[in-house]
Amino acid sequence: MNTTIRKAAAPGKSAPLAVFTTREQDFDHSLFSKNEIDFIKSEFKKKNKTVVVNQYHRHVILQWSDITGKSEHIALETIRKAGDQITSILNRLKLSEVNLVSNADDQQILALIEGMVLGNYQFLKYKSAPEKNSLTKINVVSKNVNDKQIAEIASVCESVCMARDLVNEPVISLNATGLAKAFQSMGKKAGFSVKVFDKAKIKSMKMGGLLAVNLGSIDPPTFTVMEWKPRNAVNKKPVVLVGKGVVYDTGGLSLKPTPGSMDYMKSDMAGAAVVGCSMYAIAQQKLPVHVVALVPATDNRPDGNAYTPGDVITMMSGLKVEVLNTDAEGRMILADALHYAKQYKPELVMEFSTLTGAAAVAIGQYGIVCMGTADEKVKSRMHDSANRVYERLAEFPFWDEYDDLIKSDIADIKNIGGPTAGAITAGRFLKKFTDYPYMHFDIAGPSFIKSTDSYRGKNGSGTGVRFVFDFIKNKGFSAK
Ligand code: BES
Ligand code: ZN
Ligand code: ZN
Repeated sequence: MNTTIRKAAAPGKSAPLAVFTTREQDFDHSLFSKNEIDFIKSEFKKKNKTVVVNQYHRHVILQWSDITGKSEHIALETIRKAGDQITSILNRLKLSEVNLVSNADDQQILALIEGMVLGNYQFLKYKSAPEKNSLTKINVVSKNVNDKQIAEIASVCESVCMARDLVNEPVISLNATGLAKAFQSMGKKAGFSVKVFDKAKIKSMKMGGLLAVNLGSIDPPTFTVMEWKPRNAVNKKPVVLVGKGVVYDTGGLSLKPTPGSMDYMKSDMAGAAVVGCSMYAIAQQKLPVHVVALVPATDNRPDGNAYTPGDVITMMSGLKVEVLNTDAEGRMILADALHYAKQYKPELVMEFSTLTGAAAVAIGQYGIVCMGTADEKVKSRMHDSANRVYERLAEFPFWDEYDDLIKSDIADIKNIGGPTAGAITAGRFLKKFTDYPYMHFDIAGPSFIKSTDSYRGKNGSGTGVRFVFDFIKNKGFSAK
């Protein structure tokens, strides 16, 4: 993250100001001369909601978000986008620091900060002459937010940016071992424990799905177990997060057929990034919840000994899977992780994966496809969290009949369904490896964005981190 946020007392006379209001008339008039106020009012009348006033000794950006009549979550999203807008103006003016002044309420100011910070994200590692954003520091001048809230939003934004960094990193510099190492250093920084199983250990545990996908790779697989278990945990049984860690998906021998469809498959570990970076925020903020995160990781490539269409693989659970498409590799590695999760007797398992093109085709980049067996009350709290952070959920049906589509002629199940309901048959495949309340989140659509989308940016978006953090923070997992 390239932006620091802190709470500050009354701003100095010369530092640039960003003044935010949700009511047209309701900004601090004492900051402006009579002429300036007339100018601002005439701009607002024209429905121009961002007005830049050059006071010569400083710039003042006045931002008005009109949220009258909007439901709360739409209002907050409008404000996040306004934050992104302020950031782009500050960068255009080459300003490094801003004092944020507002009489809005805490949730609104926090949303504004979130939009500003996430909108300021850049991935510049591979630019020889990087055009760095000028903005590096936000001083929050408001009595409506406290230090703890500022620290929390900073931590969540940092975690989202870390997820984006991991997703944007190419496989040549982030293989399965590298991903596990990244989690180890995050665990050290935030104070959660991290164990990494190597290939020998994975073999001894008979993780057949993970090993099968790894056969075509010259790099070894990893299986990472992260745990945050604070003394004051409110839950007896942990919440387990599972993330797909395919560090690159060529499709394997069923090589990706559509031109261009392989170009961004470095992002096929976005689910792993979500769960690892959520752990980072959860531990850093010391949330009183016992959480475990599991990441099976490998690349999926068609080298000499690669698994083939027609192979039958015995999974860790003992179930036998007929592979009819090696590009349906995510479910192969996740199945072993979901089986492994059983030992925790989890309260709830939330699994995040860029699992199917079908999910992306169905709802695009605007939300997360989800389905599963969690309690209805828990699902409704998931929707509350998802709406609050605007990483919305579209729940798909999860009817038993879909299992007919993954019956195999020669084994227990096959790893692909028919031409219809591809996102759902993938979820039903995974359900076979669970014996606990389970939710599957398919983030194939929103995890990697191909054109700039306000504060979500372009490329790796980190979608899922803010949702998981909000859900754990508000203890939405308990069925009681
Ligand atoms: N990683 C892909 C899914 C994907 C597609 C993610 C587009 C992000 C953007 C996954 O491993 C895959 O290839 N799924 C196949 C499954 C099929 C062979 C049953 C798909 O969706 O085509
Ligand atoms: Zn695939
Ligand atoms: Zn994949």
